[in-house]
Amino acid sequence: MRKAVIAGNWKMNKTVSESVELISDLKSLIADVIDVEIVVAPPFLAIYHVAQEVKGLNIHVSAQDVFWEEEGAYTGAVSSKMLSDVGCEYVIIGHSERRQYFGETDETVNKKIQSSLQHGLTPIFCVGETLQQREAGETFSIIETQVRRGLSGLSASDMEDVIIAYEPVWAIGTGRTATGEQAEEVHSFIRKLLKEIYKDTADSIRILYGGSVKPDNIDGLMTKPNIDGALVGGASLKADDFARIVKYQR
Ligand code: PGA
Repeated sequence: MRKAVIAGNWKMNKTVSESVELISDLKSLIADVIDVEIVVAPPFLAIYHVAQEVKGLNIHVSAQDVFWEEEGAYTGAVSSKMLSDVGCEYVIIGHSERRQYFGETDETVNKKIQSSLQHGLTPIFCVGETLQQREAGETFSIIETQVRRGLSGLSASDMEDVIIAYEPVWAIGTGRTATGEQAEEVHSFIRKLLKEIYKDTADSIRILYGGSVKPDNIDGLMTKPNIDGALVGGASLKADDFARIVKYQR
């Protein structure tokens, strides 16, 4: 049995004080949930403060990006070692917004995944096709390339600590969610690919869906056999909405 993961990606929203306010509201709504791994990804500056708020609770903190070197002359960068030091346990890697606006490639994604694993962080590795690629019938080949390159060099035992997020780019922030069937089709494709590479370990790897996940579509998505949770953007900024998603219908 794979434990479900519900992760909230706050993106470039919330100051430190706003982050503390949001996590305090969330704590009171979801502190009793134990059968779901709950993760929130505030902006870098708020990670320490949010981590302090959730110490000892079933709410874990993630970063939204990381650089692969441990330390040195890399102006503006933050390393896995620094993230672990402030109570961060997960890191989102390869989000389509990083790929689109910050020059992220499958190769840099791979280096970041390797470095985060070395420092005990759980990578949430994002893949997904654009609308143009979907319409051109390239979805599966794009996903396969992203998965193979992003995970290049990782062993089956490394994969026990990796979470994958399928996020069709056309569904992110657009209000246009993939249907459960569309998502399941890609999730089961990813699972098959993982089986080919990592054999039985593939059965324990969590694959999350992301892209306009809301309180009114989470229940349907979670009934699909290969959807093991969600990576939530917009709806994770509202405590009530995120709490409802965490408390999806079992
Ligand atoms: P969205 O974002 O829920 O606002 O579509 C999802 C994501 O980018 O992770």
